[in-house]
Amino acid sequence: MNEQNNERIAAVITGANERGILKRFVLSSPRSKTGDVKKAELRPVTVRGEKLIQMTEYRRDGKAVTSNMPESEAADIAAVRLGGEFRQLDVITTAGSCTALVSSKGKLHISDSISATGGGIADIGGNDSEKNHILDGSEPFLRLLGVSDADGRVIDRRRAKFRQINRFLELVRDIEDKLPKAPQPLYILDLCCGKSYLTFAVYYYFSAILRRSVRMTGVDLKPDVIAYCSGCASSLGWDGLDFVCGDILRFEPERDPDLVVSLHACDIATDITLACAVKRGAKVILSTPCCQHEMANQLECEDLSFITSKPLLRHKMTDAFTDALRLSRLECENYVCEALELVDPEETPKNVMLRCVRRSAPMAREKREALYAEYRRVCDWLHVTPYLDVLLCDYATVRLRD
Ligand SMILES: C[S@@+](CC[C@H](N)C(=O)[O-])C[C@H]1O[C@@H](n2cnc3c(N)ncnc32)[C@H](O)[C@@H]1O
Repeated sequence: MNEQNNERIAAVITGANERGILKRFVLSSPRSKTGDVKKAELRPVTVRGEKLIQMTEYRRDGKAVTSNMPESEAADIAAVRLGGEFRQLDVITTAGSCTALVSSKGKLHISDSISATGGGIADIGGNDSEKNHILDGSEPFLRLLGVSDADGRVIDRRRAKFRQINRFLELVRDIEDKLPKAPQPLYILDLCCGKSYLTFAVYYYFSAILRRSVRMTGVDLKPDVIAYCSGCASSLGWDGLDFVCGDILRFEPERDPDLVVSLHACDIATDITLACAVKRGAKVILSTPCCQHEMANQLECEDLSFITSKPLLRHKMTDAFTDALRLSRLECENYVCEALELVDPEETPKNVMLRCVRRSAPMAREKREALYAEYRRVCDWLHVTPYLDVLLCDYATVRLRD
């Protein structure tokens, strides 16, 4: 690439950074299939008050190497590397993105959709911002789970997980006042806990940070992960935390839980989680669904055929319908429900968090019946039978007859 093109590329990055809208810029599509670096991701960070650009190079041997550089150098480095090692650069901002492609003959093509105005101030990463997180990486359980190293530094390839855990804890902090007040003990479930990063984090938050008395149980089908998590809990000496191997459909909590959390319970496992929480009167439910298939296979609605005939859009739409109907169904059970974003949507598509808080006062029978009738009307229109409704059917029928 010639000098003029380098300047054009550097100007896009510098301009976005100066406006405060720059989220990150990514070099990809390496020219050589055998070169050391597959991809390089650069993002603004603040370290000890200084604004820098942090570059993470993802190497072919699986390692991720991070280094920091002054803002003034980063744009030029990216432009030069785009002309040399890489064919593609994506500049991602809060006001749109810009993609620069370099052909094998060195011709530059830029597709720029960054709007000249608007776009919010981007979140800046780095040590300073991590200081504001609930966890800073030095917590022993994060070391034990391999999220941070022996010095308490978050391992580069675990940064997304670390951000996800912290964000989840922020959402837990937001609903803290809906739970029984201290000194009452809390009972918390993590259904479909898997390797249980979240279970450990939530337990730590209530027991070590808030100094609450907590009993917490993680449940999962996989014996190996349950054995691993039980071993971790005992080596941390966390005797209020236990793990049960089994199907959440048959799981019997020891008492009605105060809080039920669930992160990425696959497909209808999210419905089982929600039904278990509702039937046992959980005060708060925080659930992030994952890989929904049920409704995509059922939905038939002539009015929506202009979307349902396009497989990709059909899937996106049924994802939204599934979660919206879940929330509507829980509203019939006297919960105040919202859908929130868990982390930056660019980090993962599995990003919708369902937050449901049970009302303290019972709902009037007529109101409940009207909500349920409206829910059924939408299900009939879509020609779907949500598993959550099936699971709550006896429960609802009995209660609606009261
Ligand atoms: C995608 S993983 C998520 C694990 C964990 N919550 C996380 O976010 O790291 C889904 C987990 O759900 C578990 N699972 C799926 N259906 C289940 C069921 N009916 N009962 C118990 N566990 C289930 C799987 O074994 C798996 O560990």
